[in-house]
Amino acid sequence: MSALSIFSPAKLNLFLAVIGRRADGFHDLVSVVAPVEFGDTLRIEAGASGEFGLECDDAAVPTGEENLVLRAARLFAEKTGWGGGAKFFLEKRIPMGAGLGGGSSNAVAALRGLNSLAGEPLGGAELAAVAARLGSDWALFLPGGPVVMRGRGERVDLLAAETVARLGGQRVLIFKPGFSISTPWAYGQLAADGEKNYLPAAEAEARLAAWLGDAKVPAETLLFNSFERPAFWKFPALPVLLDALAKEFGLAARMSGSGSACFALLPAGAAVEAVKSRIREAWGAAAWVVETRIS
Ligand code: C5P
Repeated sequence: MSALSIFSPAKLNLFLAVIGRRADGFHDLVSVVAPVEFGDTLRIEAGASGEFGLECDDAAVPTGEENLVLRAARLFAEKTGWGGGAKFFLEKRIPMGAGLGGGSSNAVAALRGLNSLAGEPLGGAELAAVAARLGSDWALFLPGGPVVMRGRGERVDLLAAETVARLGGQRVLIFKPGFSISTPWAYGQLAADGEKNYLPAAEAEARLAAWLGDAKVPAETLLFNSFERPAFWKFPALPVLLDALAKEFGLAARMSGSGSACFALLPAGAAVEAVKSRIREAWGAAAWVVETRIS
């Protein structure tokens, strides 16, 4: 096989509790994260030995060595001793600076694709170890379904099949305003405010356990995001719209990751055109909206 095409999904954090700051400056978290059916496509063609290159249909995406796809490729070659090369073509649909995990997802797609081109030298656990070395929230994309993420994001636990079934197929509307939020800024705001922004670990685990332990508790009850506090303070347009969607349409809506993208869970059969219009009315023509499902 000398070329392949890999789907690279966006993710949503249904529950994201930042529980404290670590001695290494990173934060520990407890998060339920789910990939969705919407995402980018990464095409990979075998290339000249030792050479890796990236092209993207979106000129705003940096395609130099700093791109996570090329960093993943270099690390893969280093780790496996693979002597091949590859050209990557990224069809970008996931907005950047959105909290939707686009960069990490692309990098995991690159790792998976190269592993396949090279004849699968890395097993699942080794792929996870490589992913964890590159970024805090890469490993979540390896299982291909909803997971619980702990530590700085590198520890990933699969959910029981019944829990996955509770989330799989859930309709969601994802929407992002014209501005982005930087992840380091968001963590920096949490840290600057001291302990009050952290949800104690015991409370985070108790909330998670309450949802996991009772199949009748709907996903709406789980929704939580520690980053909303700094993000909503700086960008009041976020809570104003989320409140309006709750009041006018009865929708449970939250921010994903460090933002700025938000999402609303859609009841089966709910009409979305009026909701989309309301989002564009609130956030203007720069608002980006997509309807998809949890994978
Ligand atoms: O993993 P990512 O590159 O997105 O992280 C960006 C920054 O966010 C890190 O440099 C760190 O300052 C902060 N971060 C953190 N705790 C985490 C993940 C990221 O403090 N668990």
